[in-house]
Amino acid sequence: MRTVYILGIETSCDETSAAVVKNGDTVCSNVISSQVDIHTRYGGVVPEVASRKHVEGVTYIVEQALKKARISLEELSAIAVTYGPGLVGSLLIGVAAAKALSFAKGIPLIQVHHIAGHIYANQLVSPLKFPLLALVVSGGHTELVYMEDDGKFQILGQTRDDAVGEAYDKVARAIKLPYPGGPHIDRLAQEGEPSLALPRAWLEPDSYDFSFSGLKSAVINTLHNANQRGEDVPREVMAASFQQAVVEVLVEKTARAVRQYQVKQVVLAGGVAANKGLRQALTDRMKKEKVEFLVPPLSLCTDNAAMIAAAAFTKYKKGKFASLDLNARPVISLEEESV
Ligand code: KG4
Ligand code: ZN
Repeated sequence: MRTVYILGIETSCDETSAAVVKNGDTVCSNVISSQVDIHTRYGGVVPEVASRKHVEGVTYIVEQALKKARISLEELSAIAVTYGPGLVGSLLIGVAAAKALSFAKGIPLIQVHHIAGHIYANQLVSPLKFPLLALVVSGGHTELVYMEDDGKFQILGQTRDDAVGEAYDKVARAIKLPYPGGPHIDRLAQEGEPSLALPRAWLEPDSYDFSFSGLKSAVINTLHNANQRGEDVPREVMAASFQQAVVEVLVEKTARAVRQYQVKQVVLAGGVAANKGLRQALTDRMKKEKVEFLVPPLSLCTDNAAMIAAAAFTKYKKGKFASLDLNARPVISLEEESV
């Protein structure tokens, strides 16, 4: 096969990103424009504002990605775009931009599921080996995914309430840290002792599902009770205790799935994969389980278009292209993405 260059476009939340990836595993460019400073003022992503910022930026970001990769539109093999899940107004901007370029230049279009993108970010680090297990932890998702082969997704378990990143952001808000709170809690957790007793939701013994809302409520209750007694809970102690409770459940369930499914590799994916505590705990545990563990560098853990172009390569090889009536899908299961 000749060299395949895929342009990826990602606008599912509050990052406008475009990237060029060669043969599904080599990043030629990965341009990301984050709106986080704008949304921080409101304590979370404001969908209307996010869409408007994507409209303003997407054309320029795509131009920059092509320029940095020193490639012209005509040389592209395909254009890949995140079509869901995410904020519908945000997704629509990326989908419209990708369709317009595809139509104008006659370049094949590929639709990519956002979470498939997060998983395939690992392919930019090292070749994926199947069967593999992916632990997906982001602001909107917490899923343990079994991949028997390239492009095949089976969800073993998922959160029944809050996503991990969501729990991080809510706890951060409770201890008065700015949005997004995940990185702040992670930093503080390195400085404190995990001395507070917080609950772990193991659920049924054979379940791979997760639940984080009880833990979040326990944090809020602990703070409230201390406040009523006129006591102060040091933020780093709360951060460390919360992080330990989250990490313990994620690591235990992943290790159990490794044994049950006899996988060749475990990959970590999603924005919370940037978490130092989680990365370290999984690295140590997977070594004990004698299974290869991959985790993307920080820049490829949070939303970016290189991961979208990497995931699109599998569809490209299988000739799975989208038509020009492609629409944004704010809610869509990962299993539907299997090819
Ligand atoms: O994957 P992502 O960029 O967006 C979604 O698709 O959701 O993930 C964003 C989430 C936010 O909730 C943020 O607080 C969390 O990832 N996050 C972290 C860390 N860095 C980002 N959570 C814990 N520790 C971190 N170091
Ligand atoms: Zn994401």
